[in-house]
Amino acid sequence: MTGRAKIIGTGSYLPKRILTNKELEKIVETSDEWITTRTGIRSRRIAGAGEETSKMAAQAAIKALTMAGVTARELDMIIVGTITAEMVMPSCACLVQKEIGAENAFAFDVSAACSGFAYALEIADRYLKNAPDMKILLIGAETLSARVNWQDRNTCILFGDGAGACVVTGSKDENGLLASQLYSDGRLWQLLSLDAVPRRYCPVVDYKTIPDRDSFCDGSAFNMVGKDVFKHAVREMGDAVENLLKREGITVDDIDLMIPHQANIRILKSLAERVNLPFEKVYTTIQKYGNSSAASLPIALDEANREGRLQKGDLLLFSVFGGGFTWGVVLLRW
Ligand code: UT7
Repeated sequence: MTGRAKIIGTGSYLPKRILTNKELEKIVETSDEWITTRTGIRSRRIAGAGEETSKMAAQAAIKALTMAGVTARELDMIIVGTITAEMVMPSCACLVQKEIGAENAFAFDVSAACSGFAYALEIADRYLKNAPDMKILLIGAETLSARVNWQDRNTCILFGDGAGACVVTGSKDENGLLASQLYSDGRLWQLLSLDAVPRRYCPVVDYKTIPDRDSFCDGSAFNMVGKDVFKHAVREMGDAVENLLKREGITVDDIDLMIPHQANIRILKSLAERVNLPFEKVYTTIQKYGNSSAASLPIALDEANREGRLQKGDLLLFSVFGGGFTWGVVLLRW
């Protein structure tokens, strides 16, 4: 197979500030025990000054470019999956372009919530079919701490900030993206939504002010019907994985590692059980970073890669689910 997307470098950036469950106990009526047992999350990262979405994205991008041995000037396209760009215009991708000096690329954002990175990968793959020499930078980056309501314990305990990136180009061998399928269902938008414009402008919080609850933005309308999102996530991701494997004539035993969107450890365990994948084959970062929406998958991918968990020839599954609803699955050979 030639011309399909092959990942040739990965990178990630996590904010320095770690916010633990114990600290959250001082902000909202919650407990370390509740958060750990219901979500698997023990801590999350919170962006501070100089760690705006585009800045973190650029840092992750530089690491991915270095690993790929590609210069910023060689890039043809930049796609950023994000729902928390610091500006509506210009796009986060244009700010990254400026930051890293990728003057020969065109750049745009993809808004698909937690599925943003998989959507970006699919778009890149379609371009590469026609132009396999293109060098494309894909990023998932989020600053959810600036948008969640820090007085709402149902949601604020879940999210974290960060960025992950990868460089892709057309594959010249049998490695690379093998198959993918994306989905959306806008009829269910009200189960998980975030206002386009905060009701009150929320600058990125300065890490020194945490955990002073008065310093947090409380004007953002982050709406989530957690139990319904949970059920849909397991069902839709499960169906998507099963349908893709069936279509490609592959069994779940052939999969070496699943790297899913990191939303809740119970969602990931239910998904693994649903598709009969041993949980040891599911890569998780949720314990350390919480749910960083579009950033979670590329951060996990970079960590798995740098830990040596990915061997050449391994069969990987990416599985995503997020607001919209949006979801999807990607099968690739490393
Ligand atoms: O990327 C996609 C984004 N979102 C998701 O993936 C979220 C998917 N959903 C979930 O992960 C889970 O539904 C949650 C973790 C959000 C909630 O877990 P749950 O087991 O569904 O709990 P629940 O909403 O049914 O709440 C159970 C109880 C309630 O109290 P009562 O009514 O039983 O007295 C809540 O008020 O837990 C209470 N509760 C909390 N207690 C302590 C809710 N949040 C908290 C909290 N600390 N942070």
